Amino acid sequence: MKFAAKVSDVPDWGKKLVQVEGQSILLVKSKGVLYACERECPHQGAPMEGALLKEAGSISCPRHGYRFDLASGACKDHPEFTLRVYPVEVRGDDIYVGLG
Ligand code: FES
Repeated sequence: MKFAAKVSDVPDWGKKLVQVEGQSILLVKSKGVLYACERECPHQGAPMEGALLKEAGSISCPRHGYRFDLASGACKDHPEFTLRVYPVEVRGDDIYVGLG
């Protein structure tokens, strides 16, 4: 697991784009739960830092609105597309991400 950011750096219902080992990782806090996912939408590469957080546990791409589950990366309406997600661990005020 690699250090990504402080918990206090990510507002609830908000996002923070970080670099972890040279990779752009988007941290998301949805209803108090932290998630980490890739920056680019798997559909056509829109930057997910502009995504909308409308529902707990999911993220909607800003370009065409595909909605991805933040835990699994699955897109119910378009199952051929999966957002890459990463395991997150919180230790005190520190967020760690597993890049595998
Ligand atoms: S680029 Fe994200 S839904 Fe099309």
